[in-house]
Formats: sequence, structure tokens, C-alpha cells
Amino acid sequence: MKVLMFNVNKDETGYINDCNRKFPFALEFADFDFNSADIGKFMGFDAVWITTGCKVTKDKSEQLEKAGVRYIVSRAAGTDHMELAAMKEAGIKGANVPRYSPNAIAEHTVCLTLMSLRKMKRELNMIDNYDFTLTGLKGLELRNMTVGVIGTGRIGAETIKILSGFGCQIIAYDLFENQAVKNKVTYLDFNDVLTKSDILILHCPLTKENERLIASDTIARMKDGAVLINTARGGLMDYEAVLEAIENGKISAAAFDVYDRETPYIRKKVERDRFESETLKKLMEKENIIYTAHMSFYTDTAIENMIMTAFDNLYEYEKTGHCSNDIIK
Ligand code: NAI
Repeated sequence: MKVLMFNVNKDETGYINDCNRKFPFALEFADFDFNSADIGKFMGFDAVWITTGCKVTKDKSEQLEKAGVRYIVSRAAGTDHMELAAMKEAGIKGANVPRYSPNAIAEHTVCLTLMSLRKMKRELNMIDNYDFTLTGLKGLELRNMTVGVIGTGRIGAETIKILSGFGCQIIAYDLFENQAVKNKVTYLDFNDVLTKSDILILHCPLTKENERLIASDTIARMKDGAVLINTARGGLMDYEAVLEAIENGKISAAAFDVYDRETPYIRKKVERDRFESETLKKLMEKENIIYTAHMSFYTDTAIENMIMTAFDNLYEYEKTGHCSNDIIK
């Protein structure tokens, strides 16, 4: 099987080539952008290997089908970058990596939470300037807080397990209760979690129903001075509304690993003056906002599991035409 690989970091190619010895597939590492590539670039490949930055639109699905691509293997858990109905219509199969290390994202989430509570961005900026005072650094203790988790699936459950060690009260909302964490969390309806949380953490997938779940109207119902953490998807939040809430003090701190307009710059080194995302720029300048560039998954264990499962998906497709991680229903 000939596979065109997108968005592979230089430090991953060694591991990818090592894994591939087991199969082996004919891999080609693309040095061009998936989203803007024309049909000719995909000709001759049976499968493409993508990340969340690769948008599988209706047009792209049709283009891939015409080029002869049969399988799309996304090495991510989330699937909101792929129009699944359009893929199905075009006759292209697709698989994801539903579980590579929920702990990686959960640990990063708790790290962002603690950094926000202990005003770590301000402290690090002060240390950079040889300012060893305590000005503006008085923090908050997690054990005294009520933490609300929206989405208690694989990642949310790991976050809850870690948080439970801090002694904080944990409340949660999900469409389905997760038995694995039921003894650590009190399930409430969405509005109760929203209004009762000192810290609100988003761990649900982005769907049509929950797009901009956190916007002016929902922020208005949050506790004054609440802390907002999003390591799920940018589309869950209205970032203009978050900026306004940070500026007027409604939200005391926010940390996020995802941004709804991240595709143009993510995984690139961008010149400061040419950075076009004005809202994100303003958010990044705030001392009480921490932004990480969609990297909460990026650990050794997660990457190894992710790559191995993506290969297994390709192998299953090659052998059977089906895959246990198929996402097209
Ligand atoms: P999962 O499928 O195991 O859990 C998601 C949970 O959210 C489910 O229990 C589901 O019932 C619930 N849910 C769905 N819609 C909801 C809503 N409107 N309100 C409340 N709960 C809702 O998924 P997992 O593995 O926990 O991942 C969650 C999300 O995290 C992914 O969909 C992805 O968008 C994001 N993610 C982010 C990463 C990053 O690097 N920042 C890496 C991996 C995933």
C-alpha cells in the first residue's frame, strides 16, 4: 500500500520508519500542505495519513476519490476536521486513533489549571525580568474549589481521577454518566455545572450541537472570577466573548490548548508582525491567559501509541478492507 504522510514532525520520522519495518508500507512524506494540494499530488496513493490540521471537506473527499485514494487514516482522536458524510458519499473509508493516551491530555489540563491558579505566567515573566517580589502573585488552592468537567469520556475521566487527589469538589455534565468515575464526581445538568464551578474544564468533542458552548450568554451565567480551561476543541468557545470576559474580570483566568482558527498557523514558526489572528494575539498578551499550541497530546507515550495504532489501522484496511477504528457509519 502506498501512503502519503502529512504533518509528520522531523523528530517522529525515525520512529515511524522503525515501526514501518514490521509492515512495510511504501511511505512518502509530503512536503506540501494537504488543504491546498491539487489532485495530482494524491495520484498513485492508496491512503493518506493526516492530522487535525488536514481538513477533509466534501471537495477534498471528491478530489481524493478521483485520485484513487481509498483510505484516510487520521492519527488523532477527534474527528471534527473530517466531513464523515461527504467521505462516505465519495466512497472513502476513514479511521482514527480513539485512544492513544488520554492521560497525556488530562495531565496537561491539570498542569494548565494549576498554572492558572498559581499565576505562573506572571511569575515566569517576572523571573525573566529579575523581579523576585511577590507582587500580584497570590494564588488559589485547588482543594478549596469546585471543578466542573464537561465531558467525562476517556480524557475527562482521567482528569477527574487526577483532580480527585487534590481534594477539590468535582461536578460534571455529560450526555452519559461514566461508571468508571461515578464515585469521584457528582453529575449535574449543564446549567448547574456552569453556574456552580470555580473552574470549568471542557473535555467534550466539538459537535454541531455544542459549537460555541462557551459564549457571552453562558459566560454570563458562570461564577464571577471563574477559571476556564479548554483542551478539547477551539470551536467550543467564542474567543471574542472570552476576551471580553477576561477584560471585564468576569473570568479571572483562562487556559486553552486549542483555537478555532488555528489551521493557518499551527505547526509553523510565524513572524510576530505577520501573525494575523488579532483576537488570539490579544489573548496571548494577557498575563492571566495561557495558550499552548495544540500540544497537550504531545508526549512520548502518546506519540508512540498514536503512530502504532495508525499503522495497525492501515494494516487492517489492507488485509480486510475494514478497520475496527472505522469512523464512517
Ligand atoms: P470520548 O469520546 O471518550 O469522550 C467524550 C465525552 O463527551 C463522551 O462521554 C460524550 O458523551 C461527551 N459529550 C459529547 N457531547 C457532549 C456535550 N455536548 N456535553 C457534554 N458532554 C458531551 O472522547 P475523549 O477521548 O475523551 O476526547 C474528548 C475530546 O478531546 C476529543 O473529541 C477531542 O476533540 C479532544 N482532544 C484534544 C486533544 C488535544 O491535543 N488538545 C487530543 C485528543 C482529544
